Amino acid sequence: MADIDSFQTEKRRFKPHASFAKQANLTAAEFKKLTALAAKSPDKYWAGRAEDLRWMRKWKKVCDWSEAPFAKWYVEGQLNASDNCLDRHLETWRRNKAALIWEGEPGDTRVLTYADLHRETCRFANVLKGLGVRKGDRVTLYMPLVPELAIAMLACARIGAAHSVIFGGFTSQAIADRVEDAESAVLVTADGGWRRGSVVPLKTNVDEALTKTDKVKKVVVLKRTGQGVTMTNGRDFWWHDLMKDASAVCEPEPCDSEQMLYILYTSGTTGKPKGVVHTTGGYMTWAHTTTKWVFDLKDTDTYWCTADIGWVTGHTYVVYGPLSNGATVLMYEGAPNWPANDRFWQLVEKYGVTILYTAPTAIRAFMKWGDEWPGRHDLSSLRLLGSVGEPINPEAWMWYQKVIGGGRCPIVDTWWQTETGGILISPLPGVTATKPGSATLPLPGIFPEVLSNEGQPCKADQGGLLAIAKPWPSMLRTVYRDPERFKKQYWSNFAGKYFTGDGSRKDKDGYVWIMGRVDDVIKVAGHRLGTAEVESALVSHPKVAESAVVGKPDEMKGEAICAFVTLRGGSEKTDALKKELQEHVAKTLGSFAKPEMIRFTDALPKTRSGKIMRRLLRKIATGDGTLGDTTTLEDLSVLAKLREDEE
Ligand code: WT7
Repeated sequence: MADIDSFQTEKRRFKPHASFAKQANLTAAEFKKLTALAAKSPDKYWAGRAEDLRWMRKWKKVCDWSEAPFAKWYVEGQLNASDNCLDRHLETWRRNKAALIWEGEPGDTRVLTYADLHRETCRFANVLKGLGVRKGDRVTLYMPLVPELAIAMLACARIGAAHSVIFGGFTSQAIADRVEDAESAVLVTADGGWRRGSVVPLKTNVDEALTKTDKVKKVVVLKRTGQGVTMTNGRDFWWHDLMKDASAVCEPEPCDSEQMLYILYTSGTTGKPKGVVHTTGGYMTWAHTTTKWVFDLKDTDTYWCTADIGWVTGHTYVVYGPLSNGATVLMYEGAPNWPANDRFWQLVEKYGVTILYTAPTAIRAFMKWGDEWPGRHDLSSLRLLGSVGEPINPEAWMWYQKVIGGGRCPIVDTWWQTETGGILISPLPGVTATKPGSATLPLPGIFPEVLSNEGQPCKADQGGLLAIAKPWPSMLRTVYRDPERFKKQYWSNFAGKYFTGDGSRKDKDGYVWIMGRVDDVIKVAGHRLGTAEVESALVSHPKVAESAVVGKPDEMKGEAICAFVTLRGGSEKTDALKKELQEHVAKTLGSFAKPEMIRFTDALPKTRSGKIMRRLLRKIATGDGTLGDTTTLEDLSVLAKLREDEE
């Protein structure tokens, strides 16, 4: 593979306002000191970060990297994540502070104080115990964005069980695969959730999934939307029935620092989703620290991260990071354009949101909908804006800064991944001068490198592969039940260094510019999807013989999915079948995975060893669309075979 060319030239620079810098949680002087300390005495630096948490037993060693790439952090220390998010605050004035301010899509609202959240968590922890959940077990959570999802996560953490949250946009096959891999005997769901005025049939999806796996023995169902659902006797229980008599007393279980806190499945280059494993001590340390530094989180803030909890952003920056900091977190269940395009801005005004963390795909949509929507609302409460999930185009960055931030708010463009557990590269709002489109500089203790295929450092402005040279506490520990895949995927490209899968460059100032994925992962509207997963979904249709899926640049979604499909003998290439295939993917994986474009072809371009040449398909997909017939593809497949020797 050739080195990556970069064409972006962005000259604008924004220094932090002096007034913001003065009050920042991390000042320029501290940043400098900590960066130096992290380079010189990493153990000392990382110990300092962990001391911000409450430990039940102090660690003996900060980092054990002797069995690399299998890291251990804060070795032999003990703590409990829910104790850090809840109990710790109950001993302070925060006891009756709002922890969660929640608004449902229909407009219903709830506020839970730290004392409320603690009580509900303890009760649900007892419910889980009653269902037979023990330390080390995996509990699957497939729920809408409601307080009970956070409660269920914290309840798992409280008793030392690991949660596996499945995004509510997934459907039956995705649920079945994940439940099967996690060997999860208990699943928590809801009758439904609200999305753009309609009900997402979560329980029905679960029922269908459970015809494909027999691992789940008990299902807890929260009543949210109230539509009729089928309850299977002996297997399904209503949340409210189980909670009725549950005791509110449940001591937090002391957990080893390396006790698994959660599994989160994410898409990789093969069809099988990877169970990314995060453990307790290191993950909590970095979730806590980065939330405090990057978002400059204060007790007086109303903090809103718009991510769904089903993605890692929701795990780290809706639940564990902000709650361990004692923050007030806004949670909103539904879509940004329901009932109208100004729902987000209405929420910002209504609750006086001070920190807003959202995704470029949303920002681009807001831009398209027009300035009049935010213009209708008073957004002066905002003091900091964040972005995550994919590269943000400089134009969207400028719009965000001007129209939403009123020119007053620093923007933190945060780079990280499901695997990294927390933010690794980001501006610090009181310290770093920002450049629109760049995630800027690593946080202290993080050592990103841009490398050539051969592992040589690239020169300034030369594109290459992004790697992280040293371990950090919130790094994934393994791929669940697949340590070989963990080694191969992340640690086999560059000896001793973590490979991110992203292309990037560093400019002359050392600023990192992310250029997107270099593997077969597509980012559709900020959601990460493996091409192979969509391909498997397509091939599961009886009329499909083979398929290849690629991403093509999309103005709104970042990337859109294009599928090339060969049909089984006798099937006709009709538009109706295209539609049917789109619906089939939506039904198997979720509608966010639906291919935008389907192209029928008689053959796919392949190398002699049978590997589909997605690079060529990407060219066709991004072409001007005039390559409308299949003959071109035929030609390309010949071309591919000829080119193979050049590879
Ligand atoms: C991939 C990870 C991190 C939580 C949400 C996504 C892309 C993420 C940025 C950013 C450019 C970004 C990368 C990364 N990405 N943040 N600020 N600038 N690209 O987590 O689903 O695990 O996806 O998202 O390509 O590898 P994820």
